[in-house]
Amino acid sequence: MTTSSHLSNVWFSVTPLEVSHGKGCWVTTTSGEEYLDFAAGIAVNSTGHAHPKVAEAIATQAQRFIHAQVNVFRHDLLEPLAAKLAELTPGAIDTFFFANSGAEITEGAVKLAKQVTKRPHTVVFSGSFHGRTHMAMAMTTSKTGYRAGHAPLPSGVFVAPYPDPMAPDQDKAVADALWGFDHLLKSMTAPEETACVILEPVLGEGGYIPAPAAFIQGLVERCRQHGILFIADEVQSGFGRTGKMFAVEHYGIEPDIICMAKGIASGFPFAALGTRRELDDKWTKGSHGGTYGGNAMGCAAALATIEIMEDPAFLDNVNARGAQLQAGIRELAKEHSVITQVRGLGLMVGTEFSDAARVSAITQHCLEEGRLILMNAGTYGKVLRWMPPLVVNEREVDLALAAFSAALKATA
Ligand SMILES: Cc1ncc(COP(=O)(O)O)c(C=O)c1O
Repeated sequence: MTTSSHLSNVWFSVTPLEVSHGKGCWVTTTSGEEYLDFAAGIAVNSTGHAHPKVAEAIATQAQRFIHAQVNVFRHDLLEPLAAKLAELTPGAIDTFFFANSGAEITEGAVKLAKQVTKRPHTVVFSGSFHGRTHMAMAMTTSKTGYRAGHAPLPSGVFVAPYPDPMAPDQDKAVADALWGFDHLLKSMTAPEETACVILEPVLGEGGYIPAPAAFIQGLVERCRQHGILFIADEVQSGFGRTGKMFAVEHYGIEPDIICMAKGIASGFPFAALGTRRELDDKWTKGSHGGTYGGNAMGCAAALATIEIMEDPAFLDNVNARGAQLQAGIRELAKEHSVITQVRGLGLMVGTEFSDAARVSAITQHCLEEGRLILMNAGTYGKVLRWMPPLVVNEREVDLALAAFSAALKATA
């Protein structure tokens, strides 16, 4: 427990825990209690806490350079990391810009799209979360709480509908959402004024909702038709979280720009955007940047993370554990009608409840009685999201399911 008397009040707290260290999927408090961490730094600690290879890469790099500013000189991990990302990212993406956080990278993506297309507007989707800087806030529609009291936000952001995952007729939900997008282009932002569309292939903060394939493919088609750039925000869904390196691979589409952060460097603050060389060439030199982007220790952490993920057993584990988790939750849903939907890809699993208060009670019970850390999501807080470190093992998933089962019973 902590009394954060000198810390800002602005941070909300999922738990009251004060922790001293972590290992794999476990964190230890300053009073020596162990907790199973299924929040993973909000889908960040992809290789688990303090993976020895990542820790070693950071420590070794710290002896060489902590910060080698990218405008002053180029350190020797920048090109190797960019080359690796060119191999991993879909399609013709071959050129990379680095920053430190998801919000910075989604902002950067929109700045790039505006300069390439010479158009002013951006389209986002209901339920979106792209970060907390002013432009990223303007692009975020998952909860009013993120925006309230911060107006005015930048203009030029338009919100199109996202298909409702709970709609009984999913084909109709997709057709309605695509109609909403077409309508937006006719009624509010003409194609020739629209620089980009930015979409999370699996809606994250908005409720762990994988985009229906027909929706994402319909959007990409429309973007191509109108010369609008398609940006995939894979800040949360990227780097193995959905059982493939990037969630767009589930859909067979190639974004014009891809945004990455969170899992890319196992928790070291690092973010990247990837695009095609011919688009990047239109980004005016010096018109974007940042003091710390491409940080040397971040690059070392990212390279080590990627090396770990390149073992085929890594993604096999994500898929096997995701299937185990979803099967376990579905089994419990048979006895607990308060669970209205189980969905997700890989280890990005959402459980929709009919009642937000029950989600709070369950997360509380899991924490206090099960020593399991879980978080919610969704505009109405009705989604329990499961985002363990991607190295989670079978026993740990079983432990989490047992704690969840006990919490369901105790809070009924
Ligand atoms: C899809 C997505 N984009 C952007 C962000 C913002 O990232 P950051 O908190 O690192 O600024 C998040 C954070 O949750 C996210 O989930």
